[in-house]
Amino acid sequence: MTDSLTVRDNRTGQEYEVPIADGTIKAADLGKIKAGEDNPGLAVYDPGFVNTASCRSSVTYIDGEKGILEYRGYPIEQLAEKSSFLEVAYLLVHGALPTKVEYEAWVHEITYHTFVHENVKSFMQGFRYDAHPMGMLMASVGALSTFYPDARNISDAENRHIQIVRMIAKMPTLGAWAFRHAQGKPYVYPDNDLSYTANFLSMLFKMSESKFEADERLVKALDVLFILHADHEQNCSTNAVRSVGSSQVDPYSAVAAGVGALYGPLHGGANEAVLRMLRRIGSKENIPAFIEGVKNGNEKLMGFGHRVYKNFDPRATIIKKACDDVFEVTGVNPLLSIAKELEKIALEDEYFIKRKLYPNVDFYSGLIYEAFQFPPEMFTVLFAIGRTPGWLSQWSELVQDKEQKIARPKQIYTGDRGLTFAPASERWK
Ligand code: CMC
Repeated sequence: MTDSLTVRDNRTGQEYEVPIADGTIKAADLGKIKAGEDNPGLAVYDPGFVNTASCRSSVTYIDGEKGILEYRGYPIEQLAEKSSFLEVAYLLVHGALPTKVEYEAWVHEITYHTFVHENVKSFMQGFRYDAHPMGMLMASVGALSTFYPDARNISDAENRHIQIVRMIAKMPTLGAWAFRHAQGKPYVYPDNDLSYTANFLSMLFKMSESKFEADERLVKALDVLFILHADHEQNCSTNAVRSVGSSQVDPYSAVAAGVGALYGPLHGGANEAVLRMLRRIGSKENIPAFIEGVKNGNEKLMGFGHRVYKNFDPRATIIKKACDDVFEVTGVNPLLSIAKELEKIALEDEYFIKRKLYPNVDFYSGLIYEAFQFPPEMFTVLFAIGRTPGWLSQWSELVQDKEQKIARPKQIYTGDRGLTFAPASERWK
């Protein structure tokens, strides 16, 4: 067996041998296939990059058929159960688990970079009272590039490291302040005595008490949610970070692009749609009629189905368990019983079985976020905080990858050609 593809171009009768490596062929090799001397060569048309590998990456492995998700080789189930978000962030960024000394130094660094320049605070205060927190987050992360102009020195490893630390540290501060802004409440400064996630909850919910101490079970559940969202290989926002980063811009600008991509309803917004759907269903008795609507094509079962996972989404299984822990503290969200019944009925139904439709990460996450009393606009901010180490690990990999080039896809031009321009004075006579 030879690892190559024999391609016969029926336009010319010529045959080409295209090497196969890692289950892929190089698009540039297809460019050698030409219909004639002046022909630009064959290209691949792939809107949405559904079958195009854009990079080599050692950050995250997914096997959608088997429901496997691993960060740097470690299964997500083990990380969610036994690790912490900051340890997972270290793993993603550095590629290996930390020693005790390395971990303590990492936690110390992140903890002592949680504060932002006071002008960032004034900048955020300039937003309208009803500004969407994702818009505020996107703008304020981008604005950080002006506070750290040295960040553009991306070829220096030490410099990259400090920007990565800063961003992981400051995202919760920016996210919490965006939340407080919408509520007209004073921004709360970081409390460096607290863990990463406990400090985030303090910046969100602290009022006049001298110290905000969140219930440990809630801290753990939110930490697990951050772990589950920390990376997901070449998804839309990561691709945005890589694409913008490929111009060699500073990482704050690249991550701002990632936040923008995540803001879109097709990426970060499905859990909000799940809540709307559950509210609309209203009670268990209405589920069969709703399922019929889905099967007739009049409805979509939000939080079900995935482009990659065709067996189960391992993150959904972990989140379902986290639901129980959170509701033990906050009281059960009445929508949970509808969600569980809906899942049960759907998983037994031929329509969903045939199409391999299972609950995804968003089916239960909205219920948990609501139990924390987050408004739906904040759900994507939480996702962004969790995804930051992933974005930065992928960005760091990109800038060190000698094979990478500035992202610049081809197009199939469908417009006019060679028209003759007449000035307005002649056209409008
Ligand atoms: N409800 C009902 N039918 C569905 C659903 C659904 N949620 N998802 C897919 N289908 C049907 C679809 O109509 C199609 O049926 P048919 O073959 O008869 O035309 C079949 O299943 C295949 O679907 P597809 O649209 O080709 O699948 P896709 O891989 O393009 O879409 C998806 C994946 C996630 C966009 C889609 O399943 C969906 O819209 N789900 C609901 C929204 C949602 O929960 N999104 C969150 C995804 S997880 C977020 C993350 O990982 O970051």
